[in-house]
Amino acid sequence: MKFFLDTANLEEIRQAASLGVLDGVTTNPSLVAKEGAEFEKRIYDICEIVQGPVSAEVVSTDTEGMIAEAHKLKNIHRWVVVKLPTIPDGLKAAKRLLAEGTKVNMTLCFSASQALLVGKLGATYVSPFVGRLDDISHVGMDLIRDIVTIYRNYSFTTQVLAASLRHPLHVVDAAKAGAHVATMPYKVIEQLIKHPLTDKGLAQFLKDWEKAQQSLVRA
Ligand code: G3P
Repeated sequence: MKFFLDTANLEEIRQAASLGVLDGVTTNPSLVAKEGAEFEKRIYDICEIVQGPVSAEVVSTDTEGMIAEAHKLKNIHRWVVVKLPTIPDGLKAAKRLLAEGTKVNMTLCFSASQALLVGKLGATYVSPFVGRLDDISHVGMDLIRDIVTIYRNYSFTTQVLAASLRHPLHVVDAAKAGAHVATMPYKVIEQLIKHPLTDKGLAQFLKDWEKAQQSLVRA
């Protein structure tokens, strides 16, 4: 499973990269707006740190506008993946962009039927939003399971990028479901590592070791 960080914050990306588990980054207009940075410069800086796929989203809602934006985004850095909304114009733009060799990530996917179309198209990634479905009392992870099943049935090459993951169990469940990629906030990566028994056990090991060293010195 690949790990992407869902952020536009450079420090978080540096921290995750230093752990050695970071494969890429996803951004969206809300995440970039939160940073208050110049968009193209921020995407370039992210690409330079991660040296892996970095999703940058268009804000046009018509096919021609999306394609024009996609061409600009692609020119920022070789690692840019163009993120498009899963709407009819997004599908049309994706078809043309894929044909010219541009990698696309179809975002805001909330149903298996949407994902089926994305898979047929051969998009690079589909991004089903787990947490936002949970927010409205739907089991978001069921969508990941359904999409993985459908894509396996037809050997679709589109990678399932589980998005809107809010806590460590979301990541574990997405891994069990066979999602190719999990994108998560930095806080969730920290939560994945943390275990109170690890901290307690380590403290005890170090205490016992210190005691033994002191006994040796005394002897
Ligand atoms: O980037 C898309 C997605 O991961 C957003 O997550 O938490 O805003 O629903 P969230």
